[in-house]
Amino acid sequence: MPLNTQNIVILAIESSCDETSAAVIYNGKMLSNIVASQIIHEQYGGVVPELASRAHQQDIVRVVNAAIVESKIQKTDLSAIAFTRGPGLLGSLLVGTSFAKAFALGLDIPLIEINHMEAHVLAHFIDEPKPNFPFLCLTVSGGHTQIVLVKSPLDMEVLGETADDAVGEAFDKGAKMLGLGYPGGPKIDQHAALGNPGAFEFPIPEMPGYSFSFSGVKTSLLYFIQKHGQEFVTERLNDICASYQQTLITTLVRKIRKAAKELKIKEIAIAGGVSANKGLRKALQIEAEKQRWSLYIPDFQYCTDNAGMIAIAAHFKYIEKEFSHQQVSPMPRFQI
Ligand code: KG4
Ligand code: ZN
Repeated sequence: MPLNTQNIVILAIESSCDETSAAVIYNGKMLSNIVASQIIHEQYGGVVPELASRAHQQDIVRVVNAAIVESKIQKTDLSAIAFTRGPGLLGSLLVGTSFAKAFALGLDIPLIEINHMEAHVLAHFIDEPKPNFPFLCLTVSGGHTQIVLVKSPLDMEVLGETADDAVGEAFDKGAKMLGLGYPGGPKIDQHAALGNPGAFEFPIPEMPGYSFSFSGVKTSLLYFIQKHGQEFVTERLNDICASYQQTLITTLVRKIRKAAKELKIKEIAIAGGVSANKGLRKALQIEAEKQRWSLYIPDFQYCTDNAGMIAIAAHFKYIEKEFSHQQVSPMPRFQI
């Protein structure tokens, strides 16, 4: 298999959940990043795995073609094909994995597997400014809540994570209880911007070390809704969203502050879908000023799931020649 050592041109595919995405990266510079979001799940109030994998199958050819056309490269220019191996939904991962394997085999070029959570962290290396090593990354998504110590692009250590629900899940399930639909994070964010975060109190979980828990606050919202009734919820929706969101944000900020202090690290980053939350971005900016952190927040397009982050992660792996076998299969519970 000939290795392209002059230019590194990678086609990356992301299909771990409900976004079908493809990107082309050329020597570390993003040429295209196409994302097709599956709207079919809205009517069910959450991602339906079987429907997600079917939608990936329907969309993947169109999305990959669009990424190649926009990048203006030829398929024969490609040095490698990268794909998300996990974590994610098995049926969804299978579509991207199979497609990537077939593409790499057809072109006789290397295949690169990527851990989705590592890719969220490495999204910080797409644009300037880039964090300096070592840095701490608060990775907050629909399935994960982690504090990661990033020593180099390919050397990361999870210092703590959630014992139950992810913070994105707390946003989504909270929104569902409030009748806001799916995905709920952006909807709570919008209502919260118009409300008073101090209007109501929800409990802030006390967890040891750098671990998190979000199931209790979610339950307390349920009891709050049951106690006050639908009419009250409709009337005070903005204040409820602002207060609930504030509790989630305070929980996250406290833990990253603790990690930064104890590890004496002032390079702080956030990543993952929940890092698109305006309240969280603002709270971290305020904290960064107080603690004199250098804070890194990705561009909105690189916060939620996208193949651009898979592409940059693959660029680093290509340099180290970390390639995968054709026999590789998805890992729904792939750990960093
Ligand atoms: O990283 P991501 O796109 O997918 C996973 O890897 O899970 O994260 C999706 C999560 C969902 O829970 C979604 O509600 C949340 O990110 N999210 C937000 C916002 N935008 C997306 N949560 C709060 N505020 C937002 N603006
Ligand atoms: Zn993600």
